[in-house]
Amino acid sequence: MEFDKKYYIQVWGCQMNAYDADLINSILTSSGFVPVDNEDEANIVLLQTCSVRESAEVKVFNKISKLIKRKKNDNNGLTIGVCGCMAENQESVILKKYPEVDVLCGPNAYVELPRLIENSILGVKTHELIKDDKRDFYPQVQHKKQLRAYVAVMRGCDNFCSYCIVPYVRGREKSMPPDKIFCEAQKLVDNGCREITLLGQNVNSYGKEYNMRFVDLLNKLNSIDGQFRLRFLTSHPKDADKDLFKAIRDLDKVCPYLHLPIQSGSNKILEKMNRKYTRENYLRKIDLVKELVPDISLSSDFIVGFPSETEDDFQDTLDVMNYVEYDSSFIFKYSVRYGTSAAKYEGNVPKQIKEDRNRRLLELQEKISLRKNKKFLNKKVQILVEGKSKRNPERLFGRSLNFKRVVFTGDEKYVGKYVNVSINKVTPLTLFGTIENV
Ligand code: SAH
Ligand code: SF4
Ligand code: F3S
Repeated sequence: MEFDKKYYIQVWGCQMNAYDADLINSILTSSGFVPVDNEDEANIVLLQTCSVRESAEVKVFNKISKLIKRKKNDNNGLTIGVCGCMAENQESVILKKYPEVDVLCGPNAYVELPRLIENSILGVKTHELIKDDKRDFYPQVQHKKQLRAYVAVMRGCDNFCSYCIVPYVRGREKSMPPDKIFCEAQKLVDNGCREITLLGQNVNSYGKEYNMRFVDLLNKLNSIDGQFRLRFLTSHPKDADKDLFKAIRDLDKVCPYLHLPIQSGSNKILEKMNRKYTRENYLRKIDLVKELVPDISLSSDFIVGFPSETEDDFQDTLDVMNYVEYDSSFIFKYSVRYGTSAAKYEGNVPKQIKEDRNRRLLELQEKISLRKNKKFLNKKVQILVEGKSKRNPERLFGRSLNFKRVVFTGDEKYVGKYVNVSINKVTPLTLFGTIENV
């Protein structure tokens, strides 16, 4: 049967989801599907979803309801697909409450997507396929011509932090073959990509299947010819080690920036979180990386209001933030994820206390960020120019080596180039300045 194959993908969630949207695009376009820029023109709408917190899921449920209205107005002419983590986590809810959803496709089943869509259009619902594990075969992602790109070096997660849904929805940890990663990176650089961010839930455990370490992969990628930057996300503090810090110091393409999420500063909470490190050994690693790479920028994730977190535990978290002086942090209020072990923990922290701790931690981070950014005043920083600033199209923006967002006046011709910018104003989130070297 011939049918209209115009699709649109909306993406929520982490960088891995953005990468997977590119993977879905590669899979669908090679099966004759056509991407469209405007959702209203699409007869297939795919939602690339996230389950990490309840708030992420609520947004998608709202979107599904809107699409169902459109589907009814369109006389069932719309195919609705839920892809990614929620297809796994909310399978039964979606099947029961939203029977108008045509396709469910979990993060390990994207290769099946063309068939799932075609079957649903033919009237055969094939929801059960999402549990299929197709992870021995990964098609090469066809990246668009782009300045910055993600490359997944591993999928899944084996860490089972007690609060986290990711290991349940994404399955077991698996490294991508080094040759595949190398080819993907090489192709990106050949096509003008200037910044590659390697992705994995815990990149430091990369390579067991290939008798390789993550630093070996960094070394290999660093040898690709061309001027480009290498970044990576996320390092688990239990596995980040001296060799990694030395690689950041020694490899010219690897940027002096490390995201090392501590989650909490309290040993009691860290143990309940099943993070497998203590505050002391985390801080020893921070001391070491600062010693080896003095200009490093650091960032972290924090969860406030984890079950049984007391004011004293929270003070430990504030202390860690003060000690480390992160350049930036992502702060989250604990959200129960059913099926995880923390969901059974007692000691729920009331919403208001979570909000209060969230605000206090954020305020401290802003103060520290401003203080750290002030060190850049009257200094020159190298920027990869990414485009026009959204707020003021007269201005350009880009990132420094240590991932600072920098806004400055300049001509569009600099987009995609490296320029030096002299910094003359800072806020907690942004540096402002003028181009120097032209
Ligand atoms: N693998 C990465 C990213 C995990 S998800 C890592 O280990 O850092 C990104 C962040 O979401 C986590 O670091 C954590 O801070 C937060 N997060 C995960 N589950 C959460 C939950 N149930 N409630 C609130 N925040 C959560
Ligand atoms: Fe979740 Fe922990 Fe895995 Fe990160 S390392 S994805 S927080 S289980
Ligand atoms: Fe990413 Fe959200 Fe899934 S953070 S791994 S899209 S649950």
